[in-house]
Amino acid sequence: MDFRDHRSRTDKASELMDSMRIEQSWFVAEMIRVTTDMWQKGWDERNGGNVSLRLTKDDVAPYLKTWNNTRTLKLTEPVEGLDGECFLVTGTGAYFRNVERAPEQNLGIIRVLPRGENVEILWGFGKDGAPTSELPAHLKSHYASQARAGAPKRVIMHCHATNLVSLSYVLELTSANITRALWEGSTECLVVFPDGIGTLEWMVPGTDTIGDATAAALAHHPLALWPFHGVFAAGTTLNEAFGLIDTVEKASELLVNVIAMGGPRQTISTQNLIDLAKHFGVTPLPSALAQNGWRMAPLAAEKPRKEAALFGAGVR
Ligand code: 13P
Ligand code: ZN
Repeated sequence: MDFRDHRSRTDKASELMDSMRIEQSWFVAEMIRVTTDMWQKGWDERNGGNVSLRLTKDDVAPYLKTWNNTRTLKLTEPVEGLDGECFLVTGTGAYFRNVERAPEQNLGIIRVLPRGENVEILWGFGKDGAPTSELPAHLKSHYASQARAGAPKRVIMHCHATNLVSLSYVLELTSANITRALWEGSTECLVVFPDGIGTLEWMVPGTDTIGDATAAALAHHPLALWPFHGVFAAGTTLNEAFGLIDTVEKASELLVNVIAMGGPRQTISTQNLIDLAKHFGVTPLPSALAQNGWRMAPLAAEKPRKEAALFGAGVR
């Protein structure tokens, strides 16, 4: 016996119980950290944003027996290729600033049941809460993002990155153009996301339609822009997904400043981008590299008449 250890048996037993508590697991601890950071970055006002992390069998094994009060939730559309997979997900309506204080109310663990028609809520979301309303986009993207090269993507992250969303109001909305602008926005960008950012049209959030479009974009790019709303990222880890959005958001902030100062007078050239790609051994998205610089969207008055009418009666 170690005489320096004065703890009683009950103390030790309760310490062991504590270390078994899911709040002490690496995945809940990391989810708390990342959602808190996202809140502090200003990307997740109110209940804005949602995150999902795919858990392995080893992650959930120690807790499976303790989850005996489960509920089933029908998905709006069956999801492909995820039968039996478990995910730690933020709750719908959850404020990221509250996750640290009440993880069990604001986070939850779901398992996709056979045929992908339902999910089982294993833990969390309070008494009668539910996973994020963007679950279709998350689950469809988890499946689709595996198509991209590299380590399996375990994380899908959505937030309302302020400067990137601002840019969606003024830049021409194509993947090539937004990618090219971001690459020129900061030297590290081409190296961090050589596959660029996919862009969607504006769509109603929380639907299977926006979920399908997001998944299609994340099959080719690590990031997808939802204009006038936010961004999705697919990453191997929470750290990587956060880093992708942080990098995009930093470049976006610089671009917003540059545009506010009257636009660039000098920038990173196509040859600079080629040199960067060569040095870091990455293959840049061809359409963004082929484009000569980036373009602002045309002003309403420059648009065809029919489209201009959408911007108000004053425009002829
Ligand atoms: P949830 O609260 O349902 O996750 O929705 C937040 C959001 O950002 C929707 O796009
Ligand atoms: Zn959102």
